[in-house]
Amino acid sequence: MNVLGIETSCDETSAAVVTNGMTVRSCVIASSRDAFTRSGGVIPEQAAREQIRSIEPVIDHALEQAEADWQEIDAIAVTRGPGLLGSLLVGSVTARLLAALRKKPLIGVHHTLGHLSSTWLDAADQPQFPLLTLSASGGHTELWLRTALLHGELIGQTRDDAAGEAFDKGASMLSLPYPGGPSISRAGEAGDPEAFPFPHPLSGEDTLDFSYSGLKTALKYTLRDLPTDVLPHRIADLAASFEHAICTHLCDRVTRALHLHATVKEVHVTGGVSANRRLRMMLGSICGGRPVRFPVQLLYCTDNAAMIAAAGTALLQEYGNRACGPFMVAASLPSSTVFTFSKMPERSP
Ligand code: KG4
Ligand code: ZN
Repeated sequence: MNVLGIETSCDETSAAVVTNGMTVRSCVIASSRDAFTRSGGVIPEQAAREQIRSIEPVIDHALEQAEADWQEIDAIAVTRGPGLLGSLLVGSVTARLLAALRKKPLIGVHHTLGHLSSTWLDAADQPQFPLLTLSASGGHTELWLRTALLHGELIGQTRDDAAGEAFDKGASMLSLPYPGGPSISRAGEAGDPEAFPFPHPLSGEDTLDFSYSGLKTALKYTLRDLPTDVLPHRIADLAASFEHAICTHLCDRVTRALHLHATVKEVHVTGGVSANRRLRMMLGSICGGRPVRFPVQLLYCTDNAAMIAAAGTALLQEYGNRACGPFMVAASLPSSTVFTFSKMPERSP
């Protein structure tokens, strides 16, 4: 089964062709991120305009790279949310139009389900269940206990900021460019991760939830209390310590989840923050010898259409042309929905 994926939830325009939910035949990403390095974050209207400019050539390029013609495409999967409304509309309107013209089923995919599917892309073997997924990006930070690709339980989530958001806001305070994750990592390479002792969020609480707003405030007060002539010489230590604190909080929750759910066979880490090198090193030593899977390519950590195609394939295989049943019961994710070209979606993303 070949699925064309389309992802336009933020400042990346992406299209991909994926076979059987695992083999990536093409994954094209056009990013308008460079336009936002100095603004400290994405400007929604500008991102939507860039999406309009990029969407058609990106889809053409993805089909070309996959050497696929429309006859070979069995379905189209598109991110239906959450994300920036203007950006999402560009992807979903394009996908609806293509589905109607080419008479293909159209699958609306929740963005987080896309990230949760990214460890299947180009994987050498099938993951073993039950597995624990830590998914952390600029918009979400969640722990899932999963019994199948589409089934599981949300056992922890952030109460305020997401981990990637903490990186982005921290970078802005340190006058480092957006996106904050990579720039804080770079700035902290030669720094001492123990130089500034940031607090451990929710440390006294019996919970698998996350909280990042306190770390952000702690960084703000640390910066306020540093003499201005000292600050430029401490950026590396500040960046390393802040990154270490974010990663330690993520690792603490994984350790706790594995203690509570000892039958877990594998740990998966997805979302933009899964690209973080310090996090990867730290997780390697806390999972009790269980395999720890990250997306096979760094490209699949951050927003991309291949993960949307993989999730769409799983939804189509499990639910066919029906509207999907309850997805991830008791979870915050609303059910994803399968649409055929003849049954246009009643809901926009
Ligand atoms: O998944 P993603 O591309 O978009 C969202 O769904 O939000 O994640 C983007 C987030 C940003 O907050 C960015 O700072 C963070 O992921 N990120 C990183 C790294 N690369 C991207 N955080 C830490 N280390 C990285 N190497
Ligand atoms: Zn994302």
